[in-house]
Amino acid sequence: MSHTPERPPKTSVSRLLEKKQAHDPITVVTAYDFPTARLAEEAGVDAILVGDSLAMVVLGQPNTLSLTMDEMLHHARAVSRGASRPLLIGDMPFMSYQADRGQAVRNAGRFLAEAGMDAVKLEGGRRMADTVRAIVDAGIPVQGHVGLLPQSEKAMGGLRVQGRTAAGARALLDDALALEDAGCFSIVIEGVPARLGTEITARLRIPTIGIGAGVDTDGQVLVLHDILGLCERSPRFVKRYADVGQTIGDALRAYRDDVAARRFPAAEHTYAMPDEEWNAFAADLDRPRPRRAFGARRG
Ligand code: KIV
Repeated sequence: MSHTPERPPKTSVSRLLEKKQAHDPITVVTAYDFPTARLAEEAGVDAILVGDSLAMVVLGQPNTLSLTMDEMLHHARAVSRGASRPLLIGDMPFMSYQADRGQAVRNAGRFLAEAGMDAVKLEGGRRMADTVRAIVDAGIPVQGHVGLLPQSEKAMGGLRVQGRTAAGARALLDDALALEDAGCFSIVIEGVPARLGTEITARLRIPTIGIGAGVDTDGQVLVLHDILGLCERSPRFVKRYADVGQTIGDALRAYRDDVAARRFPAAEHTYAMPDEEWNAFAADLDRPRPRRAFGARRG
């Protein structure tokens, strides 16, 4: 009898809740294209976030503010072609949900209908609760995002740690509770003191996913390019697991040197042609050909 290895089941939003209840940490990573989504799936992550960090780490923008829905959907589609088992979360870009609730619902729907995502994420606490409710009512799972909010960096006066004062910490907890009440299935907590990450996690029924929020959140998320060492500078909360930037640079320099020295392509990279065919071709080259008059019409 042939034995096919069992594929782990698709991760659902309720699976993340089960993991919280079992104190089983949730691993989330960002991805923006087909090959890295495939690698993230093979590595066994629970969820992939197609983050709007795309703007900075892939598209070379100074911040996330200029990213459009079309750019996000383009990359989200590539990710869903590369990975299907992890929960796939599409990040709603700046101004795709803040101005108009109906437009927020329609844009959230596009992530599911046009890009194969399972859920969306959006930034903001209490002020976003009604928008979250409207999207959830449309049958779309929503992940919240509180603390350091890159889309609000102008209002926050830069990308700074949040919730360091008693009042700031209380406001963040209230934001997280409001998002839970509004129907979020999970909340990202970014850039807050570790003890606040622990407290918010303990007070929520839904899983928290931390990034710069300490070790006690129900899961962690990191930007892929930070993990791989593809960003020149990374925040303090990043752990770099590889120096892929160095590896890529070394490979490209070796390629350039091989081309310059005609070491590449070598025999094993080239195609052969049988001698008899080559000889017939060479003989034909020596035969005189009628010359076409200059300006003669073709065909
Ligand atoms: O865009 C992103 O990558 C994010 C994570 C940092 C949570 O929002």
